[in-house]
Amino acid sequence: MAQEDVFKKLVAHCKEYGFVFQSSEIYDGLAAVYDYGQYGVELKNNIKKYWWDSMVLLNDNVVGLDSAIFMHPTVWKASGHVDAFNDPLIDNKDSKKRYRADVLIEDLMAKFDAKMDKEVEKAAKRFGDSFDEAMFRETNPRVQENLKKKEEIHSRFVKALHDNDLAELKKIIEDYDVVCPISGTKNWTDVRQFNLMFSTEMGSTADGALKVFLRPETAQGIFVNFLNVQKTGRMKIPFGIAQIGKAFRNEIVARQFIFRMREFEQMEMQFFVAPGEELKWFEKWKEVRMKWHQSLGMGEHKYRFHDHDKLAHYANAATDIEFEMPFGFKEVEGIHSRTDFDLTQHQEYSGRKITYYDPEKGESYVPYVVETSIGVDRMFLSMLAGAYCEEEVEGKDGKKESRVVLKLPPVIAPVKLAVLPLVKKDGLPEMAKEIVNDLKFHFNCQYDEKDSIGKRYRRQDAIGTPFCITIDHQSLEDKTVTIRHRDTMKQERVSISELKGIISEKVSMTELFKNL
Ligand code: GAP
Repeated sequence: MAQEDVFKKLVAHCKEYGFVFQSSEIYDGLAAVYDYGQYGVELKNNIKKYWWDSMVLLNDNVVGLDSAIFMHPTVWKASGHVDAFNDPLIDNKDSKKRYRADVLIEDLMAKFDAKMDKEVEKAAKRFGDSFDEAMFRETNPRVQENLKKKEEIHSRFVKALHDNDLAELKKIIEDYDVVCPISGTKNWTDVRQFNLMFSTEMGSTADGALKVFLRPETAQGIFVNFLNVQKTGRMKIPFGIAQIGKAFRNEIVARQFIFRMREFEQMEMQFFVAPGEELKWFEKWKEVRMKWHQSLGMGEHKYRFHDHDKLAHYANAATDIEFEMPFGFKEVEGIHSRTDFDLTQHQEYSGRKITYYDPEKGESYVPYVVETSIGVDRMFLSMLAGAYCEEEVEGKDGKKESRVVLKLPPVIAPVKLAVLPLVKKDGLPEMAKEIVNDLKFHFNCQYDEKDSIGKRYRRQDAIGTPFCITIDHQSLEDKTVTIRHRDTMKQERVSISELKGIISEKVSMTELFKNL
């Protein structure tokens, strides 16, 4: 199935099974704003808990924070967001559609990558086991031609971003005949900068009202609380402050479902280190964060690092962890070495001294910062994209039927087990409810007695429930039940008293933490 179709099906699945709804849907929705339904919120909470515990519980030098969304407007002046938190936008005059110029150029480069991959795929089929991909890429004229074009665009693109040369961005788009996907024309406006922050007014009178911003990142709440946390927690450098919270950006191009939203959630950690130590910690956190992603078992090949082409003016190293979404490898997390930029700016704009006295060095300094910043919603999407499967299975009377299953990592699955009485009589529902009542304090459990057992299994597969427990007549006699494993569909008979232990082992975060 084409990846585009997989993505459409995934979006439809999210709605049909109560994971994600369009915001204000009864009023035709609000672009790039989404609500999480009954299973979505459970999955999201589990992702947040896995992140929070791996940061705050596993590291005794990382503590948490929950700062307000509204902040003093000068925060955003100091951070550079008022002046420089912009995206370059371009409009197509015929379709009146608005695009990000940098995204159009990135998509253009991705087309050359796709052409090269296609050549490689064809050749791999032709040559079979003797195929040497590296050699083929180096010598095949068509691959080389596409690579040359991609590199030409790439170096012009990087220079244009670096020089903030909006005319050159437009020229790249024109030179390579990029057309609007809606109108199919090259009738473009000039590229302009567009600030992404939402603003509103705080206070009641027109005169006294203060223009405030909805925070576009949670990080600044951490920076302005650096001294509060360091002093009250008696924290010694190196240490980190972690925070989960909403962020808001007036994204120009709202597309790809929850990948690019106007209201989203971030999980950020700022790690404060001594000047000169930041690159060592940057490498360390890169490794830790990649391990965290891979611990969830989606497959190592699904992740890669992507170093930034253009470093922000305050950064001396930056990389993204990308996940292979149905629409290509995309950023899920950013890891940035932000130097002492933010704390120094806040020191300057607030007039307060923001330094740390290092007892080991016997000196005071403005700490340097390594940041890890992951979007909850992108993480959610990556998990669903990696988990969504359509399979042909043997159904009733040996007939083939299809099942949609979310092979979510059990630790983050919204529902851990479903308890299903085989029939609605003979005391089986009562026994099933007893099991639910016993286990519900430990796991998110569901009781379901409606429809055939096959249909109930399918419903649980579709929401990613790793275990289905079936109560039958034998259960009444010997206190055993069958436990069905979602991915293999294999069933085994176990005693009711063993259930808690078997399930705990598979869904417990502690087990995964041991590998981090
Ligand atoms: N404090 C650094 C920072 O905010 P960023 O790369 O702009 O860096 C960090 O954002 C993460 O936040 C991204 O890797 C992504 O997962 C998430 N994110 C950013 N913009 C988003 C959006 N419009 N919708 C959903 N997630 C977004």
